[in-house]
Amino acid sequence: MEFYNIIEQRESVRSYDPHKKVPKTVLDRIMNAGRLAPSAANRQPWTFVLVSSEEKLKEVKACYKRQWFRDAPYVLVVTGNKTKTWIRSYDDYNPIETDLAIAMDHMILATENEGVGACWIIDFDYEKLTKAIGLKKNEVVYCITPLGYQPEGYKKRGNKIRKSLDEVVRRI
Ligand SMILES: Cc1cc2nc3c(=O)[nH]c(=O)nc-3n(C[C@H](O)[C@H](O)[C@H](O)COP(=O)(O)O)c2cc1C
Repeated sequence: MEFYNIIEQRESVRSYDPHKKVPKTVLDRIMNAGRLAPSAANRQPWTFVLVSSEEKLKEVKACYKRQWFRDAPYVLVVTGNKTKTWIRSYDDYNPIETDLAIAMDHMILATENEGVGACWIIDFDYEKLTKAIGLKKNEVVYCITPLGYQPEGYKKRGNKIRKSLDEVVRRI
């Protein structure tokens, strides 16, 4: 798909067909888009946890109680290690959240290119999620997304509600 079309047409998907599996090659292409994302000093401080086993999906889905989330056949958890990042010397700023957000955005845009649904989620129960995936010391999670195909007959909203370019751009 043409790059600007992907950006214009991508929407958060909150409806999934629980029975329709996504081929491994497609899932791998999506995660490869995250792998290729830029990060501060190219440290790539991330691990992408793809949850697909019935047992783990059950545990992970308890962290966000929406039916549409429960319907998704996969959940992707973007985790990062705070000790693997580049640290800005003058103020010790750690860009872990930025690094992970960029990787996530690459993957979210890749889902649109693949015709796979996704929805960036941060309002999850942190304790439940991190316990379920076995998060290690120094690792953090800022965002997750369900992955899956939309049900038969699903229609996009097609109404991007955004501020105008003039409202968000200041030319100096
Ligand atoms: C950082 C971030 C956190 C979000 N958290 C949630 C969330 O917890 N639950 C949810 O349903 N949507 C969540 N969203 C999706 C936004 O609501 C959605 O992207 C926004 O309303 C614009 O709609 P669109 O994605 O369809 O263009 C989140 C999006 C971002 C970027």
